Amino acid sequence: MKNGYLSTWAKNVSPSPTLAVDAKAKALKAAGEDVCGFGAGEPDFDTPSFIKDACAQALAEGKTKYAPAAGIPALRNSLAQRYFEKGILSEKSPNQVIVSPGGKYSCYLAILATCGAGDEVIIPAPYWVSYPEMVKLAGATPRVVFAGDEQGFKVSPEQIEEVLSPASRMIILNSPSNPTGCLYNRKEMEAIVELACKHDLLIMSDEIYEYLLYDEVEHFSPASFSEEAAARVITVSGFSKTFSMTGWRLGTLVANPEISKAVADLQSQTTSNATTFAQFGALTAMENWDKSMQAVDEMLVHFDRRRLKLLEGLQGTHGITCQRSEGAFYLFPNISSYGLSSEEFSARLLEEEKVAVVSGHAFGAEGYIRLSYATSDEIIEKGLKRIQSFCGNL
Ligand SMILES: Cc1ncc(COP(=O)(O)O)c(C=O)c1O
Repeated sequence: MKNGYLSTWAKNVSPSPTLAVDAKAKALKAAGEDVCGFGAGEPDFDTPSFIKDACAQALAEGKTKYAPAAGIPALRNSLAQRYFEKGILSEKSPNQVIVSPGGKYSCYLAILATCGAGDEVIIPAPYWVSYPEMVKLAGATPRVVFAGDEQGFKVSPEQIEEVLSPASRMIILNSPSNPTGCLYNRKEMEAIVELACKHDLLIMSDEIYEYLLYDEVEHFSPASFSEEAAARVITVSGFSKTFSMTGWRLGTLVANPEISKAVADLQSQTTSNATTFAQFGALTAMENWDKSMQAVDEMLVHFDRRRLKLLEGLQGTHGITCQRSEGAFYLFPNISSYGLSSEEFSARLLEEEKVAVVSGHAFGAEGYIRLSYATSDEIIEKGLKRIQSFCGNL
């Protein structure tokens, strides 16, 4: 073909490196290799059975048809109630809540609905791999602001101010963060919201890990700070990480009525509704909140134990430094003292010791690697021994 088969968008987009590492580790395992996988960004527990049962019942009852594009009314209602209680919505308005096929799609639609050519989107790094690609797919330009471990991986308002321009349109926040597990406290979050209000910026707050917290820390949603904040913050979340429902593909989005309507319209023309019977499972999770949170608490006991085990092992490895995380299920150690690029480090670690981690490069953070502790204690113990042996030979 004269101009090739692909569009500019397709030529410029990179495949998700985290999914690629996971696929590689799974392929090695399938080929009989004894791989310790720290790549996966998903809980290793099953979805709580009462949620699965509700979905099975919906299927049995024939809830297998198209649903309204923005989500089944009962689920939007119940999410609106929760967001109202959290202060993210000033009134219980289900029309401001959208259910999408995954938090990833909620993020994409949030960006697509509000940003375009000529706009700049400020992305604090280390960032979740998909943000820059989504911004580019919307025709906008990512402006990355880096915060290393010496500042707890959190950007300051001054750093954001330094990259502001007349084209600045949105700041993306992700607290607790993938890949670092860091969490913005109230004061830090308030300072960024204040800056967004002062400079007339939108915020996309990706809160997909909002319930996976440790050390008794508290999560803060920027939309809950004031009416003005609520108007300019798009809050994204979903069922994947909290309830171990990654394969269900269910995300949420809350925004002001104008943005929510635009997101619903975009969704109606691109995917239509998130899977109908899956939404009935999610509805049961929402309607039995205490039971759902009890299931989350049970998962958290395991995540916390593994977090501390992995943290201690990494901190005890000569040449590695590792920040204590406060949320999600990742640690993001600094491996820069070895003088290898993070891609080289992770490729060799997989090749030589069969340990799968994700290179920090993928998250806009050279000199780091990401390990997910959503894996068994045995894998963590075995993986740590291999990492220590690998590092000892470098
Ligand atoms: C920061 C962040 N946001 C959003 C998502 C998307 O989650 P999902 O599409 O499974 O709901 C992920 C998944 O890895 C994530 O880590």
